[in-house]
Amino acid sequence: MKNKQFTIDEQALLEDIMLHRRDIRGNNFLGKPISDEAIKKILHAASLAPSVGFSQPWEFVIIRDDKIKKQVYENFVVENKKAQAIFSNKQQEMYKQLKLEGILEAPINIAVFYKPSDTPVLGQNTMLETGEYSVVCAVQNMWLMSRAMNIGLGWVSILNPESVKKILKSPADNKLVAYLCIGYVEEFFSIPELEKLKWKKKKQINSVVYSNEYPEAISNT
Ligand SMILES: Cc1cc2nc3c(=O)[nH]c(=O)nc-3n(C[C@H](O)[C@H](O)[C@H](O)COP(=O)(O)O)c2cc1C
Repeated sequence: MKNKQFTIDEQALLEDIMLHRRDIRGNNFLGKPISDEAIKKILHAASLAPSVGFSQPWEFVIIRDDKIKKQVYENFVVENKKAQAIFSNKQQEMYKQLKLEGILEAPINIAVFYKPSDTPVLGQNTMLETGEYSVVCAVQNMWLMSRAMNIGLGWVSILNPESVKKILKSPADNKLVAYLCIGYVEEFFSIPELEKLKWKKKKQINSVVYSNEYPEAISNT
């Protein structure tokens, strides 16, 4: 074989990193600073992601300034209050107890943007969202590389993207895809917090896999 072949042990290592990746929220972040080298490594992982037509349509804003974090956090507070309302009364009680971000606690926040191309992109003509999907691939690379470096990452989506764009002075055409909180952690939980708190159950993979086509009972076409 000419190209690099991975061993069973290396496959197991990748699986282990995936298995132990967790979403990290406020109370779990330590104040310990993150070096520029570490951030560089996480961004390099982002740059290795696949992208539609190799468009690499991502841009990153690295936020260390507490004043900017505070403005984003204030937007979270507003949006989180609205978000509660979509749940049943019983769920709202639980929702109020959840800590769903770590904007102020994490030493580094990274806003990840999709920058649309101003020239045609190979493969992005029928499924326009593939540009944003590419940015999500970059985020996942960042998440896994952070975990491999024993650094926690939390994704905050309870934000008004237009408000965050304004705070960060983003170009109008850019779309906010992810707002990430990054830092060393007290603990990586062994299972997702939302699973532990019984907010949602883990799906078994065979309950979401079909053979050849959707069965009659499910298909509504
Ligand atoms: C697109 C996306 C948006 C998310 N937004 C939030 C969020 O706003 N707040 C939060 O606490 N977790 C957020 N999460 C994390 C999920 O809640 C978490 O991934 C899920 O509960 C499984 O837990 P785990 O990542 O620890 O395995 C988000 C995850 C994704 C992929």
